[in-house]
Amino acid sequence: LQAKMIVDKDFTIADIDNRIYGSFIEHLGRAVYGGIYEPGHPMADEQGFRKDVIDLVRQLQVPIIRYPGGNMVSGYNWEDGVGPKGERPRRLELAWRTIETNEVGTNEFVDWAKKVNAEVMMAVNLGTRGIEEARNLVEYCNHPGGTYYSDLRKKHGYSEPHRIKTWCLGNEMDGPWQIGHKTAEEYGRLALETAKVMKWVDPTIELVACGSSSASMPTFPQWEATILEHTYEAADYISLHQYFGNRDNDSASYLASAMEMDHFIRTVIATCDYIKAKTRSKKTMQLSFDEWNVWFHSNEADKKIEPWSIAPPQLEDVYNFEDALLVGSLLITLLKHSDRVRMACMAQLVNVIAPIMTDNGGDAWKQTIYYPYMHVSLYGRGIALQPVISSPKYDAKAFTDVPYLDSVAVFHPEKGEVTVFALNRSLEDSLVLDCDLRSFGHCELLEHIVLEGDDLKAVNTQQHEAVKPHNRGNAEVRDGKVTARLANHSWHVIRLK
Ligand code: AHR
Repeated sequence: LQAKMIVDKDFTIADIDNRIYGSFIEHLGRAVYGGIYEPGHPMADEQGFRKDVIDLVRQLQVPIIRYPGGNMVSGYNWEDGVGPKGERPRRLELAWRTIETNEVGTNEFVDWAKKVNAEVMMAVNLGTRGIEEARNLVEYCNHPGGTYYSDLRKKHGYSEPHRIKTWCLGNEMDGPWQIGHKTAEEYGRLALETAKVMKWVDPTIELVACGSSSASMPTFPQWEATILEHTYEAADYISLHQYFGNRDNDSASYLASAMEMDHFIRTVIATCDYIKAKTRSKKTMQLSFDEWNVWFHSNEADKKIEPWSIAPPQLEDVYNFEDALLVGSLLITLLKHSDRVRMACMAQLVNVIAPIMTDNGGDAWKQTIYYPYMHVSLYGRGIALQPVISSPKYDAKAFTDVPYLDSVAVFHPEKGEVTVFALNRSLEDSLVLDCDLRSFGHCELLEHIVLEGDDLKAVNTQQHEAVKPHNRGNAEVRDGKVTARLANHSWHVIRLK
């Protein structure tokens, strides 16, 4: 197979918002307790946070982390998680049927986020609660002092405001599984009134309204149209959530799933722009793809979990090599839409459908999906460039006309570096990539990182890292052209300067 690609400095998509490489920590399973937080662990710091986990998160350079949920936030009382730990209540957590001890809450999470150099994307409860609790939380977090909630924060040991900039107006309010699920009308009204007062407390914040919890929801995309009619001026972003899985063990279809993500994004953009026209607005609504990942491996195991335990191993997908390939392709898709998708969160970060796993009392390690996420987060900063690609295509059960080559390029003007991210989707054949870098003049290869292997189902364990990248790729640069042979089903990061 052979594919051609043209990358030109002038074919820009957007100056990428780094928050597109965000992630998510929910009070769910072992994400917090036994994940980021495990007092008594040999690697725990003075606050009980695991330093080995902090180190693995830092290596990913995650710019923003969504918190505290997810489904959990729709039943959460933020007041339970602040103040003296000994006085915090234990609650039934109805979304995941566990017991929440509230040992970790807003202030501890803000501290942890600083340790991993990330901003917090805070979600408010619009399931069981509303305007009042949301505005109090903004006051608690962001108001400098001299009022009840800002002084309460000071009393809790935090004299400086947390200055949290990005806030989610609830979570997946379209889903019948959600605590306090709402119709689009009900949610649209509540989101607008909550947004208004949150911004009155702190006009510098940005707000994300809940879009559909997946493109397959029966109410999609009318949900978006209705809620945007209410919130178009008050909200800054609309959220998208989507998970993928190779349930039928059909890898040719699975590796094409980014086409579904692409279609979802296009439909949401079209719906936003329709409401822009309808409301005669001058503003363009941006997208926050704040839950995306592979999630299906753990579905059966989760049915056997005893209810009302503390931090059980929920949603612990063990990822394989083909999942890592798809994650690379999903990241390419987000970059291709980086003019409108300004934020995105890989869901999630530790133990729960996560790139990082831990053993309670033991080690922390990298799942297969850690690598493409790290590559794109590290080298995908700067300006996304629209490649012109001509690639042979295939038909799979779920998709037709799937290009074997999936690729995008990112230019970092200050460093003078350009990086090509590429996936060869062919299960059988290698693909020769010819990439014309016409406008870049003389270029040298910095590195060609490759994730490849024979076994699509290979997984990483604590003892053995079967899937890890090497940088002995075969890319060659000559006369402004890069040529590389991409092995069947393989992921590539070609860095040039
Ligand atoms: O990330 C896991 C769950 O997926 C989240 O709690 C919810 O928002 C989504 O359904």
